[in-house]
Amino acid sequence: MGELEIKFEERTAPREKGSNSCLQAPPRPVVSVIVPTYKEVENLPFLIGRLRDLRRDNGMDLEVLIMDDDSRDGTREYIASLGEDWVRLFTRTTDRGLSRAVCDGLKRAEGDVIVVMDADLSHPPEAIPALVQALEAGHDFALGSRYVAGGSTHEGWGVFRWLNSKIATLLAKPFSNVKDPMSGFFALLRSTYERAAGGLNPVGYKIGLELMVKCRCRRVKEIPFHFCERQSGESKLSLAEQARYIKHIRRLFIHKYGTWSHLAQFLVVGGLGTVINLATLSLLLGLSVGVKESIGLAIAISMGFNFVLNRRFTFDYARSGSILKQLFGYVGACSLGALCNYIISSELMVAFPALYPQLAVLAGIAAGVGLNFIVSLFAVFKPAVNDTTSPAERSAI
Ligand code: GDD
Ligand code: MN
Repeated sequence: MGELEIKFEERTAPREKGSNSCLQAPPRPVVSVIVPTYKEVENLPFLIGRLRDLRRDNGMDLEVLIMDDDSRDGTREYIASLGEDWVRLFTRTTDRGLSRAVCDGLKRAEGDVIVVMDADLSHPPEAIPALVQALEAGHDFALGSRYVAGGSTHEGWGVFRWLNSKIATLLAKPFSNVKDPMSGFFALLRSTYERAAGGLNPVGYKIGLELMVKCRCRRVKEIPFHFCERQSGESKLSLAEQARYIKHIRRLFIHKYGTWSHLAQFLVVGGLGTVINLATLSLLLGLSVGVKESIGLAIAISMGFNFVLNRRFTFDYARSGSILKQLFGYVGACSLGALCNYIISSELMVAFPALYPQLAVLAGIAAGVGLNFIVSLFAVFKPAVNDTTSPAERSAI
């Protein structure tokens, strides 16, 4: 392994936090390894043993931050019994969860290089030097990867877990081109993390993806590694965790595309509303309800459906507003949109008689939907008066 430049540059820098004025401040560690844990006491001796070897064999100046969500399984006693000051335990009792624990660790880490890894030995500590070297070579994110040449997963991975990982990877495509965006084994410089420090807002497990996107990492290097099955304890990856992943992806989408993501959601809801409208209309006509009544009812039902979905998803930041006011406002916005649609369609037909009438109607629809969206965004689903953040920022909170 090549010499770690960063290590020697920073070796004598004093600790910023928690330094004791009476004593000589100990040298600042260069690599901070953040390990989120929940009931991992059986794995910790092996993990710490291998990290200890790494410190010795590679001369790596390394601290470990065990970010434990109050496991009460003997973790605290075990770390205390070690009495090694490079291993620091933080017992967390609030704001629990893997990503939250990692974010907490990111704030407390003192090294200039930060590594994040699991405690269950799925991630080999011996790969840390390769991750660090990738950063030294100028990459702004080093990602332990199972899906690049040389990487692999434990053979016992069932079809379900494999498929699950593949679908999740596909959903991350709009944000990152890496082969293994789901990986929880990665390294970045603290200065890279600081680009996004306050804006991190992950839900669920995918803190690596969150950091790559929010820290605007363009030069990501994937380092192959073999993902071992955990030796003891259980995986905490539940169905609820996967639902949180969808929520996380939506947040990233809003973060990346801002107001456009609200328009995209508005259009998806509108498309679904059209399907509801046609289905209701067919049903009512099938039940021999009069044509006028059927059209009217279909409009009312689809408008109600759209209102509920737009309030819940498209403009979810405005959910604390009065529902009645918003409902009336939304019906008003739709009516205004319909009127605009009517005027534009008919004016275009008169002005360009040679044009296909369908084209005029399409232009009318586009103008109507656009107006409806603008009125909904700026008037109907307004945030509280004293909130000055933009809609996109608000949804990402
Ligand atoms: N503090 C804290 N709080 N730690 C947690 C929590 C929590 O609520 N839930 C899990 N952890 C810790 C575990 O103790 C372990 O060290 C690490 O986070 C990963 O949890 P596992 O339960 O072992 O996750 P996994 O094996 O299903 O998922 C792994 O694979 C994914 C890729 O398929 C993890 O490595 C993920 O990071 C990775 O993205
Ligand atoms: Mn695991």
